[in-house]
Amino acid sequence: AIGYLNGKVISSSDPVLPIDERGHQFGDGVYEYIRIYNGRAFMMDEHMDRFFKSAKAIKLNLGQTREEIITVVNDLIERSGLADCDVYMQATRGIAPRNHLFPNVPASISMTVKPFRAMDETLRKNGAKVKLLPDERWQNCWIKTLNLLPNLLAKQEAFEAGAFEAVLVRDGIVTEGSSSNIFLLKDGTLITPPATKHILHGITRIAVLDIAAELGIPVEEKEFAPEFIFEADEVFLTSTGIEIVPVTSADDRVIGEGNPGVMTTKIYEAFMKRV
Ligand code: PDD
Repeated sequence: AIGYLNGKVISSSDPVLPIDERGHQFGDGVYEYIRIYNGRAFMMDEHMDRFFKSAKAIKLNLGQTREEIITVVNDLIERSGLADCDVYMQATRGIAPRNHLFPNVPASISMTVKPFRAMDETLRKNGAKVKLLPDERWQNCWIKTLNLLPNLLAKQEAFEAGAFEAVLVRDGIVTEGSSSNIFLLKDGTLITPPATKHILHGITRIAVLDIAAELGIPVEEKEFAPEFIFEADEVFLTSTGIEIVPVTSADDRVIGEGNPGVMTTKIYEAFMKRV
């Protein structure tokens, strides 16, 4: 697949980085994952806002403007010849001999453009299983950093238990999925955890909240305990990669009727009209 590193278009499989690279050695960087539908990046402005916010939060100077980055993305998409694809973008604190203190070197910006890796659509039709697991991450989950080890461990544990996603619980409160945000429907109200420091402020989450407003669905951004999931009428997950996926069981207990919910389907259909 096509790739990009610091001003050069490359192949994503080219060996281009030295061992002393801070993303590689420390996870000292931030990233974005953007979906391209029919040649057009979905919610690019929101992704760029978050990318710059994440970089600022870790005191990383990207060394490129938002416009420059968008130009690179659009150029790569065009070169890839792919209409439906995804862009992975990361920025790290650059290349310098390993030392915890920040080096005085330029940031590395890299990207790949790949054919969209479609998920198993039967999940959307039948609903997904989730497993509740402790949220063992740090306090700043709103920053989209490369440090995903707790997320990976939770996702893998859920997978090994036959579930599609791990739903994380911190101090008795549901935060989000290991790589998704969570929504519930209860008595016609859409409920999702508030955008605190303990969750990633998902771009798909923003889209869903906007769709709810458009459809006249009441919304509450509020914290809830894991037990509340079992009492919900409908549950779904959102992310750039999976869009909107209904959840029909948690810890092997059936949610609602055990089928993708009517409201979830309505919101998903409205979402697909926007892409
Ligand atoms: N992950 N929460 C976490 C912890 C995530 O990693 C993601 C996305 C989301 C959903 O965010 P968005 O709607 O902006 O994709 C929520 C991406 C897909 C990833 O890591 O590849």
